[in-house]
Amino acid sequence: MNLLRKKSITKLILESQQKSGLKKALGALDLTALGIGAIIGTGIFVLTGVAAAEYAGPALVLSFVISGIACAFAALVYAEFASMVPVAGSAYTYSYAALGEFFAWIIGWDLMLEYALACSTVAIGWSGYFVKLLQGLGINLPAWGTLSAGSGGLVNIPALLIALLITWLLSQGVKESTRVNNIIVAIKLFAVLVFIVVSIFYVKPANWQPFMPYGWNGVFRGAAIVFFAYIGFDAVSTAAEEVKNPQKDLPRGIIASLIVCTVLYIIVTALLTGAVSYTKLNVSAPIALALQVMHQNWAAGIISIGALGGITTVLLVMLYGQTRVFYAMSRDGLLPKIFSETHPIHKTPNKSTWLTGIIVAIVAGLTPIDVLAEMVNIGTMSAFVFVSIAVIVLRKSQPDLPRAFRCPGVPVVPLLAAAFSLFLMFKLPGATWIRFFVWLVIGLAIYFLYGYKHSNLNREAKVDVD
Ligand code: ALA
Repeated sequence: MNLLRKKSITKLILESQQKSGLKKALGALDLTALGIGAIIGTGIFVLTGVAAAEYAGPALVLSFVISGIACAFAALVYAEFASMVPVAGSAYTYSYAALGEFFAWIIGWDLMLEYALACSTVAIGWSGYFVKLLQGLGINLPAWGTLSAGSGGLVNIPALLIALLITWLLSQGVKESTRVNNIIVAIKLFAVLVFIVVSIFYVKPANWQPFMPYGWNGVFRGAAIVFFAYIGFDAVSTAAEEVKNPQKDLPRGIIASLIVCTVLYIIVTALLTGAVSYTKLNVSAPIALALQVMHQNWAAGIISIGALGGITTVLLVMLYGQTRVFYAMSRDGLLPKIFSETHPIHKTPNKSTWLTGIIVAIVAGLTPIDVLAEMVNIGTMSAFVFVSIAVIVLRKSQPDLPRAFRCPGVPVVPLLAAAFSLFLMFKLPGATWIRFFVWLVIGLAIYFLYGYKHSNLNREAKVDVD
């Protein structure tokens, strides 16, 4: 058995140029918008509240700084890979070239947690603001139809429906979806700015006391939760095959979007915990609640609409990312061919999009948000660890490959990225670890029963022997 067989990078690039059925339609600005579209969502609009109330208190600002640093290191690593291997599939494809098939499979499997499961998480966050907005209009939806069984209801119907709606939108073609994305990103940024401008007048420094009610451990646990708010910058790299000038535009898109979001998160968190006591923030729409407490109902309305729109684009980009990772894995033979069949007119992987979207919708309808968010985080952090190691390995094994963007300070920066991610993984609860191991075991079973045999590299090796 050869578990560490690798794809050649040169071949990867050629292959993607010759075979790609995907349309090249995206530029640098589209990518930055794609990044912001994927990043600002349920993390800042929803999870911030719980994280402040239960883990970090006003020191949640520090949690955001810590998670932001972890992601900044990882972003530099991702940017180098994205500029070198501009093919669909992100971390999965990079590690196929650097670490070999077995690790690539594990990462691809982890990425399903990051993308598909994040879609479900995000859909639940969307549902929270949707219910809140309707309440503001005097329409009260019953709990049984707006919360999953684990959260005190039966099925989260709004979460289920929004996931299906986005699936339909994506199946209509990438350019259409990005155009919608650009508009909604503008609305979301506007909503965040409204919050900043309004709440700045209501900050009471007394609310920042005690600053660290749960100590440093609380700050770190908070960081492990709000890590979710940063997930998405790497989704930019999954679009590589649809970018006009990937070598330059990918690193620009990844880094620019991460910087914008980090700055906004720190400001929003400081103002949120300054305007309202952290003890009151354990709700499903904390930012809107804060504005209500300030008696700024008009602003609360704008935030709810902005959050709804904003969270929608996260769903769009994450679902898009998932279908492109599936596309790459299927093209390599590790998943069935249905995942890489493209629609003759829309040029999108249509069947795969629907299959993924329906599963995402069902999970969103039936699972509590916190369980999902923690699974997404552990999956993403583990992918970061692998990718960081992969960049070091590839610098050694193939030093001469052209790298339009070079991650500074190798190996220190990638090692820091890996160390930060591992540290945050260990701040997640034991139950999350158990679920994560079960997920990995299922993944390994599928690889050994299906992927190993059907892999293109396996077939090529056989042809060589014959
Ligand atoms: N970062 C994305 C969000 O917070 C996943 O919704």
